[in-house]
Parts: sequence; structure tokens; C-alpha cells
Amino acid sequence: MYKKLIAQGAEAKLFLEEDNILKNRFRKTYRLQELDNKLRGSRTRREAKVLEKLATINFPAPKLIRDDERENIAMEKLNGKLIKDALNDSGYKNMCAEIGKKIAILHNNSIIHGDLTTSNMILSKEIYFIDFGLSFFSDKAEDKAVDLHLLKEALESKHYRIWEECFKCALEAYKKDADNSHETLKRLEAVEKRGRYRAKKGS
Ligand SMILES: Nc1ncnc2c1ncn2[C@@H]1O[C@H](COP(=O)(O)OP(=O)(O)OP(=O)(O)O)[C@@H](O)[C@H]1O
Ligand SMILES: [Mg+2]
Repeated sequence: MYKKLIAQGAEAKLFLEEDNILKNRFRKTYRLQELDNKLRGSRTRREAKVLEKLATINFPAPKLIRDDERENIAMEKLNGKLIKDALNDSGYKNMCAEIGKKIAILHNNSIIHGDLTTSNMILSKEIYFIDFGLSFFSDKAEDKAVDLHLLKEALESKHYRIWEECFKCALEAYKKDADNSHETLKRLEAVEKRGRYRAKKGS
């Protein structure tokens, strides 16, 4: 079957295969082979499992088509712009509020995304989330807070002119919908202090 390479990240190659996306986590030669096989397998299975769960709650994410439990996932192709590119347009406040609301849905279903960047969201009819290879199931305030903190860092580095407004809108929407948001946001403050502390120590 003809496959066109459409993206290559650090971990995976993405191919267009008819109307689907094939995500292949390729071998990393610098890793010990046994460890590499383990990591690629666990991320592939994890992503497949989370996509299946998301379909049951009607969360906007690509539908899983198949996975080989080792290194390949086939999923529905989403049409639209990456949020990374769309966020410069007008309307970024509404987009960020939608992002916050959707993170609340994930967290209320005990799903931590693990890599909340604007390259992992696609604006189609609504905002879809992708790239669940680092996701896991947890109800801990700490895990939710770190998830939000990663979004903040991603906004700060890629959208430095508007990131503060963006994060504020996302958090406000999150607060409204997320269970135990008070505890999570308190934890977020602690995570951020810790981050600053680490940065100071490292400098
Ligand atoms: N279902 C999809 N529909 C349309 N485009 C997609 C889809 N999945 C991925 N893409 C495109 O491919 C890019 C890379 O995909 P993805 O984020 O899943 O991989 P990655 O960042 O390399 O993976 P990982 O972090 O798991 O190693 C995305 O930023 C997006 O542009
Ligand atoms: Mg990605």
C-alpha cells in the first residue's frame, strides 16, 4: 500500500495510508534494543488504550483503527490546522478556553495527557487532542497539576507574546469544569515553585 510520510517526530514517523494516519514508532539505535522494544511497545499500547477509552466518552480525538501492540497504530486522519499555527489568529482566547474545558474532561475521566503542547491539538470542527503515547490513568492532583504545568511551558515557549492570556483563559475554563480543581490548582502553585527552584539550582 502506498504510504506518504507526513510528519516525523523524535519518536515516530507518521504516514498517510489511504484516509488514515499510520503512526510508526521506529527503532532507536542509540537505545539498548531490549529497552527500546519495551518503550516503543508500551507507548504504542498506551496510546491505543487511551484512544479506545476516549471513543467511549465521545472525546474529540482520532478513532483508533488498529494497533499491533508493538510499534504501529492506525487511526482516523483529522483535517485541520495544528493549534500551534491557529493560535496566532484572532480568537485565541476562545480556543484556550476550549482547551481548558477539554483538559477538565480528560482529568475528570482520570486521563492525564502527558504531553499537552499546541502541536498535539488540531482545530477541526472543534479542537481535537492527539499524541497519547505518554498518557496514563490517574486521579492524583499532582499528576493533573504537572499536566497543566506542561501546557503552560509549551505556551510560554511557542507563543511567547500571548501565552499569559492563553494560559489564564485555559485555567479559568478548567477551574469551572474540573473535579477538585481547587486542590489541583493549589498543587500547580507548588509544582511551579519547584520548577523555579530546579531552574535556579541548575543555572
Ligand atoms: N490523527 C491525525 N490526523 C492528522 N494529523 C495527525 C494525526 N496524528 C498526528 N498527526 C500529525 O503528525 C504530527 C506528529 O504526530 P504525533 O504528535 O502523534 O507524534 P510525535 O509527536 O512524533 O509522537 P510521540 O510524542 O508520541 O513520539 C502531529 O503534530 C500532526 O501534525
Ligand atoms: Mg506530538
